[in-house]
Amino acid sequence: AACASKKVSRDWQTVGTVTDLDKDGQLLVQKSPTFNVLVVGTSVSENLIAVDPTCTHSGCTVTWDGKGNKFACRCHGAEYNTNGQVRRGPAREPLKTYSAKIENNSVLVKQ
Ligand code: FES
Repeated sequence: AACASKKVSRDWQTVGTVTDLDKDGQLLVQKSPTFNVLVVGTSVSENLIAVDPTCTHSGCTVTWDGKGNKFACRCHGAEYNTNGQVRRGPAREPLKTYSAKIENNSVLVKQ
């Protein structure tokens, strides 16, 4: 019971429904300045990708480029791999990544 409050931030959070995810193959949730998440995939994907879409260069929101299999920032052209690593500058730091999973009709993310 003593560590109950610490545990909360590490718990899985519901960020949307599988229906929403499957519609676009991605789900962007901007919950708070400190918790934004972009989930990429569908209910039939082997793995869901989840990142904080806040560009580490200067804070724009990156978008998913499915054809290029990368995240791209329209502000100054930074690109990131599916694991969040920088693929092209000017960004230097990777995107924050999250664990994501599907349970019943919900998409869940863990910080
Ligand atoms: Fe994304 Fe500058 S804010 S490249």
